[in-house]
Amino acid sequence: MPRRQGSSARADAYGSQRYWESRYASGSAPDRTDEWLFSWHELQPLFAPLARDVAIVDIGCGTSDLCFHLAEAFPGGRVVAVDNAPAAIETLRLEQRRSCGAHAKRAELHVLDATELHTVFAEPSDGVFDVAVDKSTLDAMLCDLKRGPSNVAKMYRSLSLVLRPTATIFIVSWRQPEDELDWLVDIALQSLIDGRPELKCRYSVEIHTAMRVLEQVHTDESIPAPVVYEIQRKACRVMERPSKKRKELSNEICIRYRTHT
Ligand SMILES: C[S@@+](CC[C@H](N)C(=O)[O-])C[C@H]1O[C@@H](n2cnc3c(N)ncnc32)[C@H](O)[C@@H]1O
Repeated sequence: MPRRQGSSARADAYGSQRYWESRYASGSAPDRTDEWLFSWHELQPLFAPLARDVAIVDIGCGTSDLCFHLAEAFPGGRVVAVDNAPAAIETLRLEQRRSCGAHAKRAELHVLDATELHTVFAEPSDGVFDVAVDKSTLDAMLCDLKRGPSNVAKMYRSLSLVLRPTATIFIVSWRQPEDELDWLVDIALQSLIDGRPELKCRYSVEIHTAMRVLEQVHTDESIPAPVVYEIQRKACRVMERPSKKRKELSNEICIRYRTHT
């Protein structure tokens, strides 16, 4: 999962918490804020349609400044960023104290394993967040071929519990839509369903590929541009019929492709 050509880290290291902690602690990240895949500038159009007072969680934020930009862009909302590498959160806290504006100072930064989100954000029980961002976190976790899939499943089950019934999840990933989508359907979506089995929801996925702004950034054609998988979760209405049993609606998954040219 190299972000840049010439990255010296072995891909399987990306699946280990120890790797990330030592990378952030040693300052070996290439930039002060180590931004993966897309910057706020590139992602901004996807957030534009959202209400300004939404609550957003960035899972596996690393040292990305995305949480600060989100806090600026959603002044009436709430922004929480979590990572299980303490050195990443320490770097962000330093950055926040040093150079952030008033709104960005509101971003809440937590050292937290994203598989345990529900232990911290337990109330209200109907969900805390309207929006979640997973920017290359799932990618990194899946580099651990043995434990990655079960850890990602655990993370998405936990995420399901802290998301409101109607919610948007942005997964920003190197994983291309023409490859197998098992990771998306069988792991991420299935775990969102399993996390709240009592909710009957419609999950629609819009796949944003080749966004125009990226073509300028990713000029090397041998590296496919990252992809944004935008998942919308909508609670289905359970219909009441007079003198008949409640009609049970099952969860439904629908995937649509949207290519930006
Ligand atoms: C490839 S980096 C992406 C960082 C950031 N999202 C970005 O886009 O720049 C993956 C991040 O996921 C974090 N991570 C991996 N597993 C995690 C977990 N179980 N809980 C919280 N963070 C995790 C790592 O510590 C690392 O910061």
